[in-house]
Amino acid sequence: MKKIEISTPLTIYDSVEELPVDVQLLVQKSVEARKTAYAPYSNFNVGAALMLENGKIIIGSNQENAAYPSGICAERVAIWKAASDFPNVKVVKLVITASSNNKIVDSPVSPCGACRQTLFEYESKQDELIEIYFMGETGKIFKTDSLKDLLPIAFIKTLL
Ligand code: THU
Repeated sequence: MKKIEISTPLTIYDSVEELPVDVQLLVQKSVEARKTAYAPYSNFNVGAALMLENGKIIIGSNQENAAYPSGICAERVAIWKAASDFPNVKVVKLVITASSNNKIVDSPVSPCGACRQTLFEYESKQDELIEIYFMGETGKIFKTDSLKDLLPIAFIKTLL
């Protein structure tokens, strides 16, 4: 028996101004996207903006439903839009931002487990890493270099 440790490298930015210029643009698009959130149940608005290798920006926001599990997260709206409209174009980077109607979200909002699993598969399929930046409304921005860092020991399709 042996015990191993798995670590997650995380880059932390103190403000949006510290980010590379193209990522700042994605932040802006993600903030715009979250204004289109349909979140009457949680009052929590999430925006996702991803950049494709051809420079195109695809956005998504969370869409809730009175039958709660039928709702969907912003990240999956964005990645599925990209996958269906631009099936063979690689995703290079993704920015996630969130706000609440009830309070200021001042810490980074990281993608949920289901979104990590979904994004992980597209990253594996395209064989190129996806940078993920995530933040709240204000405050620090966290960045990981790959879905592998957010979802270690993932369920992978080769197991099927
Ligand atoms: N949500 C996202 O859009 N992305 C996440 O990664 C976490 C949660 C949404 C789902 C739901 O509409 C609301 O935030 C509250 O959970």
